[in-house]
Amino acid sequence: MSADSVSENIIPHKHSITHVDRVERNGYRPVLVWLTGLSGSGKSTLASEVEKALFTQGLNTYILDGDNIRSGLNKDLDFGDEARKENIRRIGEVSKLFIDSGTIVLTAFISPFIDDRKQAKDLAGADNFIEVFVDCPLEVCEQRDVKGLYKKAREGKIKNFTGIDSPFEQPKNADVVVKTNEESLEVCTKKILEVVLKKIKN
Ligand code: PPS
Repeated sequence: MSADSVSENIIPHKHSITHVDRVERNGYRPVLVWLTGLSGSGKSTLASEVEKALFTQGLNTYILDGDNIRSGLNKDLDFGDEARKENIRRIGEVSKLFIDSGTIVLTAFISPFIDDRKQAKDLAGADNFIEVFVDCPLEVCEQRDVKGLYKKAREGKIKNFTGIDSPFEQPKNADVVVKTNEESLEVCTKKILEVVLKKIKN
């Protein structure tokens, strides 16, 4: 039986507590803060700092992070273009559930393709989406090489490594751009926080 014929027989249930009920009770709008950038650009560090600031203000938050999700939910996916697309599709769907639950979600995935990030934005709702470009030159990420992966990629021990032999499509209209090689962690965190705090009150 094809997936299409199965979905014909799926009738979503409407639950009595709605998204609006949750938003009204929380008193703020949940948003999806989507950090995109090369490996080693600082996505996870920034997501963590922004989350700390929001969480300590009493807001409900959750981080979805590349290495963590790829060890569980998405451990069947490799780093080919199709698998990356599926990775981001699933993260978009999971983020949508978190948004529906009233939670502010921060995602830290390379998410190299513009179309896939657009799909996540459409799923969350454009008004609930903040795209953050964690902009750091490849040379700097490679110099940092926190996990030793760039070295392995240069030696040909890892294939399809982003920036080396797999593309990264830079955002053209990100809501926030942080330059982690020029701006301090504090400044980058503040820039993101300002946009988030403004948006959740709208
Ligand atoms: S993607 O492109 O959005 O599907 O990637 P993501 O799920 O964010 O996973 C990126 C992390 O996986 C590690 N890793 C690789 N990255 C890029 N290319 C290849 N081939 C690769 N193999 C393993 C790497 O640690 C990435 O983590 P970050 O935090 O980005 O450095």
